[in-house]
Amino acid sequence: MDEEPDEKGIYQWTEYSQVPEHLKKYWHQRFKIWQSYQKGVWMTEDAWFGVTPEPIANKIAIHIAESAPKEKTVIIDAFAGVGGNAIAFARNGHFEQVFAMEKDAKTMKCAKHNAKIYNVDNKIVWAAGDCFDLIKRRFSGHKNIIIFASPPWGGTEYSNEDVFDLTKMEPYNLEKLYKSFSKYSTHVVLYLPRTSDLNQLARYAPPGKKVEVAHYCVVGASKALCVYYGDFNFEGEGEEHADDAASA
Ligand SMILES: C[S@@+](CC[C@H](N)C(=O)[O-])C[C@H]1O[C@@H](n2cnc3c(N)ncnc32)[C@H](O)[C@@H]1O
Repeated sequence: MDEEPDEKGIYQWTEYSQVPEHLKKYWHQRFKIWQSYQKGVWMTEDAWFGVTPEPIANKIAIHIAESAPKEKTVIIDAFAGVGGNAIAFARNGHFEQVFAMEKDAKTMKCAKHNAKIYNVDNKIVWAAGDCFDLIKRRFSGHKNIIIFASPPWGGTEYSNEDVFDLTKMEPYNLEKLYKSFSKYSTHVVLYLPRTSDLNQLARYAPPGKKVEVAHYCVVGASKALCVYYGDFNFEGEGEEHADDAASA
């Protein structure tokens, strides 16, 4: 797509010299992040830190599609960012409806543009604003939805800690995320730092139930994990690899 960004703060960098110093290391990974990067993907500066790389987003979409109860075909991406996960959900044949929520207008603009590149813009319902408020207003009483959330992790501090304390995650900690989303859905998936404290995650398991945690790896190294709250069935999940991402 040759449409150029028309707004300050939205970028379509094609050359190394255009990229600010602090983002160069991420730009080197651009084709691991977006396999169609060269088709004109738009990004904000912040998005380079938070976007879910395409192979991982595809793998998560497959995991949710295959493990959730079959009738659960509506998914909300509560923190859609520039579209990494929402696009993967829309490209996965399982989901009949994908709602993508994002509170930052420029970031949302990138997501819509990127969804066009992947030919799925008309499969996504876009909702601008605060996800906690939007879900409360639009999905009260719709128990049949899955909520996927890849919240901000509060900078890059988490990567320096052996075990990341999820009570300190900014601006929304685990308790806030779990309590807010589980009010409206019995199936909540959170995408969190790979070092997240598993004991803290387990505290929200319903009595007598297990909670599944999957690490998502690229070239053998975990990049992040997902915790699956609700009735997800991972039996039969093998060691297969999807694109470049594997779960462990
Ligand atoms: C880690 S990024 C999500 C990345 C996304 N999964 C992707 O692949 O592009 C988190 C996003 O949540 C947005 N955000 C933060 N608070 C929000 C809120 N209360 N409601 C909706 N979006 C929010 C931020 O603007 C940011 O774009």
